[in-house]
Amino acid sequence: MAQGLKDAYKDYFKIGVAVNNRNVADPDQIKVVLREFNSITAENAMKPQPTEPKKGEFNWEDADKIADFCRANGIKMRGHTLMWHSQIGSWMYQDEKGNLLSKEEFYANMKHHIQAIVNRYKDVVYCWDVVNEAVADSPVYPGRPELRNSPMYQIAGEEFIYKAFEYAHEADPDALLFYNDYNDAEPAKSQRIYNLVKRMKDAGVPIDGIGMQAHYNVYGPTMKEVDDAIKLYSTVVDHIHLTELDIRINEDMGGGLRFNQGQATVSDWERTLQQDQYVQLFKVLRKHKDVIDCVTFWNVSDKDSWLGVRNYPLLFDENYKPKQAYNAVKNFD
Ligand code: XIL
Repeated sequence: MAQGLKDAYKDYFKIGVAVNNRNVADPDQIKVVLREFNSITAENAMKPQPTEPKKGEFNWEDADKIADFCRANGIKMRGHTLMWHSQIGSWMYQDEKGNLLSKEEFYANMKHHIQAIVNRYKDVVYCWDVVNEAVADSPVYPGRPELRNSPMYQIAGEEFIYKAFEYAHEADPDALLFYNDYNDAEPAKSQRIYNLVKRMKDAGVPIDGIGMQAHYNVYGPTMKEVDDAIKLYSTVVDHIHLTELDIRINEDMGGGLRFNQGQATVSDWERTLQQDQYVQLFKVLRKHKDVIDCVTFWNVSDKDSWLGVRNYPLLFDENYKPKQAYNAVKNFD
């Protein structure tokens, strides 16, 4: 029997996990991380705001802890993320009065930030989510931009995305560079993600892959939607990663509150639905092993989940014990 998920999937793709500092400091949690996973993402520590809270003032403490853990254990990291409208110091794109910077100033800030972090971790980071969540959510009406109206977009339009990839590539030509987004299997949005990446490819931008965040739930997306999205993306890139996988038991992201308010139970029916959605998903992923090379869970256990423990989204419970869905995903033969 395979030791951990990474062994069960060794002929298919890497199995990754997003970690916080506690996960790599506590001996029991470390045991789970090293047994199950062979790719690591820093959940927050490598984002723009934590690493450069003020212009030119870097804080590498948290990111270094995770990078050093990976170096010590011979695990390569997915870097997350270089440019995002969230968790970013506003100095990146506006002055103290709140006016947007000129394109030149913004690009200088962006280049300095991206190249500092890519250079610092190039020995341990094998790929980067260069730009995160730049595509607009549905619905987008005809004639409206397909991209999110972020401050960065307001300054430079789509070109800021191209520049981010160019700066990252210049700093580490060996790193695989990804565009990463959510609602990644929703048909209209996946078409817009494809459109963006196709325009980048046509313009000669150094992009290697698409990251599907994969924040799913037990009711959706359908496996046909996931299959269709993977097929579409694989016509334009050679690498697809699932970058932030979780399958919550509530359709609504905030729905976990229902349980925090006193009903701290999960029904057998919900457990079964979740197991089924995980099993069906991994079946589709295995089918596409030629283009999928890493599947990363967003957090180690339900206790760590950004969605809260009562969304019950991961394969390990709040005591770091494997859930029934874990066994079903692992023993697929
Ligand atoms: C989340 C983290 O998990 C939280 O701890 C933090 O408070 C907010 O960000 N999409 C992403 C991730 O690309 O970086 C987000 O991570 C989850 C959604």
